[in-house]
Amino acid sequence: MNNIEVVLNSIKDIVEYNRRKFITFVGKASLGTVLIPPFLVSCGSTTTPITDKKLSKNTLERLKNLRLESMVASDKDDLLLTNGLSYHTIIKWGDKISDQDTFGFNNDFTCFIPLDENNPKDGLLWVNHEYINPLFVSDFNYRDYENPQLHRTKEQVDQEMYNVGGSIVRIREENGQWKVVQNDPHNRRITAKTPIQLNWDTPIKGKSTIIGTNSNCSGGITPWKTFLTCEENYDGFFGETTYDANNIPTHRPSSYGWEKFYSYPPEHYGWVVEVNPKDGTAQKHIALGRFAHECCTLYELADKRVVAYTGDDKNDEHLYKFISSKPGSLKEGTLYVADTENGKWLPLDWETQTVLKAKFKDQTEVLIRAREAAKLVGATALNRPEDIEIDPITGNIFITLTNNKGKNDFHGSILKIEETDGAFDALTFKASTYKAGGEENGFSCPDNLAFDMSGNLWITSDMSGSAMNRADEPYMSFKNNSLFVIPRYGKDAGKVIRVASAPRDAELTGPWFSPDGKTLFLSVQHPGEQTKDIRNPTSKFPFDKDGIPKPSVVAITGDLIEKMNCLHQIEG
Ligand code: FEO
Ligand code: CA
Ligand code: CA
Repeated sequence: MNNIEVVLNSIKDIVEYNRRKFITFVGKASLGTVLIPPFLVSCGSTTTPITDKKLSKNTLERLKNLRLESMVASDKDDLLLTNGLSYHTIIKWGDKISDQDTFGFNNDFTCFIPLDENNPKDGLLWVNHEYINPLFVSDFNYRDYENPQLHRTKEQVDQEMYNVGGSIVRIREENGQWKVVQNDPHNRRITAKTPIQLNWDTPIKGKSTIIGTNSNCSGGITPWKTFLTCEENYDGFFGETTYDANNIPTHRPSSYGWEKFYSYPPEHYGWVVEVNPKDGTAQKHIALGRFAHECCTLYELADKRVVAYTGDDKNDEHLYKFISSKPGSLKEGTLYVADTENGKWLPLDWETQTVLKAKFKDQTEVLIRAREAAKLVGATALNRPEDIEIDPITGNIFITLTNNKGKNDFHGSILKIEETDGAFDALTFKASTYKAGGEENGFSCPDNLAFDMSGNLWITSDMSGSAMNRADEPYMSFKNNSLFVIPRYGKDAGKVIRVASAPRDAELTGPWFSPDGKTLFLSVQHPGEQTKDIRNPTSKFPFDKDGIPKPSVVAITGDLIEKMNCLHQIEG
């Protein structure tokens, strides 16, 4: 197949996708025209797909000639980019965002919403602060003590609680550079001490408003333009409640030991949290279940009900889907879990599942103990489901399965879900592996995903800092974590191409395109994480005078981004 045929076949896919969707949601179709996909929101893109535009013959020729230079793997302590890309740092840990507040640690998910839809260069950036490294944040070195928890102080824990959660920062692009608008009234921090409402009628552990959010990994955006931030490894902060064979609960302590100073119940964490960008108010969505949420990817149906996909990033855990029963609700509806072997979404519904009624006292307990409920109804154990994105052209759902070393899956894969008849509220689907990690495809441990305006798929990797660049681990040849793209068109269509290489110990996270497709926002998370002595850090990124590594958010721009987004190809 030549390149023009690849493009034309893709356009046929678009027609087929829209035909299916049109039949599903509207009931009749004017076939033969390329229809605009309905409103699509996801973790990695708020952009308008290029499919809205008319592609001329010249455009197709230019697409055919798109050249992408793949980088070789590198272990250099720097953010390296392929030709055609450049970056500048927007904000980093400790930077002031207002007279009161500073930017938190370990930025993961990023999401940008313009203040005015007609101006893509001025808006609000949401950034997750997932976890802290006490060595940098609270001047506490776990390596100094045989039993570190005996030596922790409340002041240290307070410092750590401030540095997780998220930041809302107004940013503006001027002369090609994104800059923080200092002291803008929108600038604020959400931390582990911010009061947050539960979007649920039954209090949890006696509370309807709880304290704080933590372990905020990836996230999403709602159709009504609010941020979603997902609580992932929550058990590291306040521990977890575990149950024995007789259903007797025990508290398992956390690794950070915050519960010694603040006795907040573990059940208040492990949820999807929605943040209003305008005023910073937040709510936790109990109906979406409690587990190590990586992200939450929403799709709005034609009748305004929403479908939310969310994965549990832990070995042998599950993939979930919530379907609302009312327009715009993340409370009324049903949570399902995936049986990928039989292609079924299984309801986690206490009323109708006798196996759940026998174990749990009500639906609230089913949602709090969603992992146990999922296993009882027969969900498929997956290899750490992480980010989820919806292909803007086919409507297929892509889920990264990072790895599962216990099952000898060291390099992970990308799972593809095709909902029956392309209906996002279908209860059956087909699952297949889209792309396997490993030497052959040149990437390992896929984590975040983002589709650009043309439907190219961008992927970040998350090899653990303790395993990278070590001869006794299977990751040696991949060197540092990286950013990859799988082009949709041209001679490299379907190939995995490395376009950025992270500093030492870091992972690149939170890829998010600006609404005009000209900027890729990206987090550089945990550079220098393997540092044992702060005077001799393993990374110095972003190369400040103090030599201390700092998690940072960067803007990647350049001709290549614009070409990949087809901005050079749009006609008229
Ligand atoms: Fe925080 Fe699963 O990555
Ligand atoms: Ca994403
Ligand atoms: Ca992740």
